[in-house]
Amino acid sequence: MTALLIRDATLQDAEAMARIQVEGWTRAYASFIPDQLPASYDIGVRQAEWRDRLARPARGTVHLVAAEGDAVLAIASGGPPLRDEAIVEGDTDDYTSQVYGLYVTPGRYGGGNGRRLLGALATRLAGLGHRNLCLWAFERNPFRRFYDRLGGRPLAKAVWEVGGVTVHEMAYGWPDIGALIWACSQEGKTE
Ligand SMILES: CC(C)(COP(=O)(O)OP(=O)(O)OC[C@H]1O[C@@H](n2cnc3c(N)ncnc32)[C@H](O)[C@@H]1OP(=O)(O)O)[C@@H](O)C(=O)NCCC(=O)NCCS
Repeated sequence: MTALLIRDATLQDAEAMARIQVEGWTRAYASFIPDQLPASYDIGVRQAEWRDRLARPARGTVHLVAAEGDAVLAIASGGPPLRDEAIVEGDTDDYTSQVYGLYVTPGRYGGGNGRRLLGALATRLAGLGHRNLCLWAFERNPFRRFYDRLGGRPLAKAVWEVGGVTVHEMAYGWPDIGALIWACSQEGKTE
């Protein structure tokens, strides 16, 4: 069995990252986010975005991939809060770091790679001095229970108007980033 390697993403990963992101959108969001944003479900557009992001990384951001040999299985990004949500309840004001995205390739859901990669991302963000972490998830995302499982606390709600529909979002927070790192290390031991 090839070992899982978690490493910083490079420009050569842009295509695989785009593919995994679009697979994630298709699996998790397509039932409630209309296909009206050209970027959302288009691998070519996403690849160009990743090339740009990886070529000129924004200050304090971390882009990781989990790979077995040459095959990228999962991607995760995070950094300073983006603060681009239309918040309607609560706030994330006290939070200094945010997960921007976490996607595992669909054939490998439930294999512990999401947990391992989120733990690695949180560890990197803690190493940059962050003491807490938040993220935004779509309320209708069937996968968001993953974050409940890892101890995320509901912090805030927001709305996103897209293609004529209103998509509801919610923020999860871990006021102690160490608690998330610990939860991510407890494979099969939480209950
Ligand atoms: C959400 C996602 C990143 C989780 O990664 P994963 O590798 O499938 O999850 P893991 O195997 O690491 O699971 C970790 C824990 O979360 C639980 N979990 C995973 N998916 C879950 C779900 N849909 N509902 C409830 N719990 C879930 C697992 O049971 C496991 O807990 P346990 O070990 O105590 O049983 C992955 O399924 C994915 O990419 N989904 C599509 C894209 C997406 O929704 N990304 C998140 C954006 S908000």
